[in-house]
Amino acid sequence: MVDLSTKVAGVHLPRPALLASGIWGESGTSMAEAVRGGAGGVVTKSIGTKPREGYPNPTVEKFGDWGMLNAMGLPNPGMDEYPKEIAEALKAGAPVVGSIFGGDAQEFASLARRMEATGVHALELNLSCPHAKGYGSEIGQDPQELAEVVRAVKHATGLPVWAKITPNTHDPALLAEAAEKAGADAITAINTVRAMAIDPVLKRPVLAHGSGGLSGPAIKPIGLACVWQIFERVRIPIVGVGGISDGRDAYEYVLAGARALELGTAVATRGVKVFDAVHAELSKSLDAGGFPNLTDAVGAAHRR
Ligand SMILES: Cc1cc2nc3c(=O)[nH]c(=O)nc-3n(C[C@H](O)[C@H](O)[C@H](O)COP(=O)(O)O)c2cc1C
Repeated sequence: MVDLSTKVAGVHLPRPALLASGIWGESGTSMAEAVRGGAGGVVTKSIGTKPREGYPNPTVEKFGDWGMLNAMGLPNPGMDEYPKEIAEALKAGAPVVGSIFGGDAQEFASLARRMEATGVHALELNLSCPHAKGYGSEIGQDPQELAEVVRAVKHATGLPVWAKITPNTHDPALLAEAAEKAGADAITAINTVRAMAIDPVLKRPVLAHGSGGLSGPAIKPIGLACVWQIFERVRIPIVGVGGISDGRDAYEYVLAGARALELGTAVATRGVKVFDAVHAELSKSLDAGGFPNLTDAVGAAHRR
């Protein structure tokens, strides 16, 4: 039996694939359902200081089997309302990672304190949403601003901090290096890739917001390249996310350097049963590759 358990910055994960932020994870009951479906843990929807409705419809466009475009605009119930959902999710017995987004370092720090009080096991900083004005990658594309946020959050809490970075920049690994220097405990890579679709009949963008973020199988090679580069340049653990749909995708991310994984679009299209399938297939791939456990395979593709 291959040992799939792993550890990311002090958080013990019995199984390596977590629910990614923003998909399925808005309510406590849906997060608990993901754990019952086999997720090794869950990342919450990104939560801000105040409730946000997000953008008007259409906010999502599906592209067959290969991808999904979204510009939701970070809809969320706000930090006052969210602790009860986390309490529900925690009852499922798996690690819960609280995702937060803010407009500056102070807002991130204050949200981090409030998220810590809910009992989550780690924080994931959304420094990477490609379509929310004043938030996400607007802050996270600048290594200095990103470092300021990480430093402020580390100062404000004792929880492990995972910095989720954007691929929408010339050198994503530079962002990871800035996060590591500022004290981040892990890097999550990647968020969605900036993209758009045009309706040829209406002659205008399909999404109400115009551009959005691409997710799903189409972005797997982009996510893999980011994880690969980051592994070469930072020492802290990497959580790989982007287009993972089956055990082979997961195995490739591990070989590139990911110590844990997150699944987003695959959960939206196949439901929470995808976690069991991915873990079973990953286990077979590791076994066939001669690895008795996941940890030994992390970054193995770099050892030539
Ligand atoms: C509909 C939707 C909503 C998302 N919301 C968030 C969010 O609130 N916070 C965040 O950090 N990432 C968010 N993401 C990005 C995902 O967590 C993930 O990084 C991205 O979709 C790539 O993984 P995937 O290809 O497995 O979906 C969202 C993605 C989608 C498709």
